[in-house]
Amino acid sequence: MNVKEEVLKEFEANRGKLISGSEIAKKLNVSRNAVWKAVKSLQDEGYIINSEVNKGYSLSNENDLLSPQSISSYLNDKTKKLKIEVFKTLESTNTLLKNIAAKGEDEGKVIIAEEQTSGRGRFGRTFYSPANTGIYMSILLKPNFSAQESLYVTTSAAVAVAEAIEKVSGCEAKIKWVNDIYCNDKKVCGILTEASFNIENGMLDYVVLGIGLNVINPKEDFPDDIKNIASSIFNVETYTGGLRSKLVADILNNFWYYYENIKERTFLKKYKKRSLIIGKEINVISSSRSKKAFVLDIDDECRLIVKWEDGSIEAISSGEVSIRKIN
Ligand code: BTN
Repeated sequence: MNVKEEVLKEFEANRGKLISGSEIAKKLNVSRNAVWKAVKSLQDEGYIINSEVNKGYSLSNENDLLSPQSISSYLNDKTKKLKIEVFKTLESTNTLLKNIAAKGEDEGKVIIAEEQTSGRGRFGRTFYSPANTGIYMSILLKPNFSAQESLYVTTSAAVAVAEAIEKVSGCEAKIKWVNDIYCNDKKVCGILTEASFNIENGMLDYVVLGIGLNVINPKEDFPDDIKNIASSIFNVETYTGGLRSKLVADILNNFWYYYENIKERTFLKKYKKRSLIIGKEINVISSSRSKKAFVLDIDDECRLIVKWEDGSIEAISSGEVSIRKIN
């Protein structure tokens, strides 16, 4: 038994409440000194644990560090079985999880980092991932479906994240096709889905679903190149902490439901309802060329139905879009 992990579990189960060292020691069948050492080590890692003489310890409600224990207290029966691991810093959660997947890891492994030094975005871009201000998470899936259907993983994940954002922060969350999430017209979350195919049968070996969500603005603000387009779901001045674990759990709970029922496409209506671009003039960027279009709809295969300037209509399933400003 790892005493520190068990002590953390006790604290998470009693967030904000005082528990005495001897009570924890008795429950875990270890010495009070072992509990004290575990508390000290957790405090050194940054956990906000208050102590009151002769009364005990309490994990502050404002504590915002992510851990399997903090997330697990919000998971449901289905998602409790996921194997969550949290790292202080990683190059990229997607990169690590892809390496683990290639070695045969089972579906349901979840890698989370407090910081990414080389977070990756779509189209070879970087994803800015400073410490302790966001959620950088990758989920390993082994769906029994074809490459085309992997689009449903991405789109259902976008709905799962949007719903979690709205529930926890109250921000209205919109989806910019395919999978960027916007609050107040700025991007707060990006999703990068990477897959390995089996060439022989055209089916997927595995899918790594990577989600990057800006929870509060970084202290030194976003870098200049994304300052005008990126934002976060909480105001850093008023955020009191303690909600990132709930957000992670809500995302997992929502997503797992959609994933298990993916054939029924229960998320599709919700995806369309949250669209930021249906009925808008856009630019479609593909192979570094930009073309003007009007968005008519999103079809049941999550393709964007656009009307080009010459009046022709097309269903597109890849590429990037930007909303055109009408002067
Ligand atoms: C995008 O907006 O282009 C997609 C960004 C995806 C970022 C997430 S953060 C967790 C996971 N690990 C990565 O390196 N990227 C994804």
